[in-house]
Amino acid sequence: MKSGNDDNRRKFLRVSAIAGAGVVLAACEKKAIISAENDSKPEEKGGEVTATEDLMREHGVLRRALLVYSAAVTKLRSNPSLVPPDALQKTAKLFRAFGEEYHEKKLEEAYIFPAVRKAGGEAATYPDILVAQHNRGREITDYIVA
Ligand SMILES: [Fe+2]
Repeated sequence: MKSGNDDNRRKFLRVSAIAGAGVVLAACEKKAIISAENDSKPEEKGGEVTATEDLMREHGVLRRALLVYSAAVTKLRSNPSLVPPDALQKTAKLFRAFGEEYHEKKLEEAYIFPAVRKAGGEAATYPDILVAQHNRGREITDYIVA
């Protein structure tokens, strides 16, 4: 069952992906790959993708880390010995380095959220909510790493 927060987050991600695509491109100095003059697919040229696709792929990595956490919660409640602590810690360290330090701080909070706020409208209220979620996530990462 989807909650209102899920719907809001989905709307935000859609809007931010569109609004932030140009900003992220400039900020990351990544080149837009797909050109009308080139018949080959981006992946065939060495894995370069559009900013929007890149952002969605990053979310895919982060979702996988969250799946590890979800699976661990169930096992920790039933039989903690089933959860190797190093696997949880490695996931938390990956989330810290990639999710928090890079994806959240250097992309979303630095470029995408300001662009979404500036664009106004309903979506302009979402960055504050997401920053609060990022901050809470960092507390959880601290706990897991410790
Ligand atoms: Fe994100």
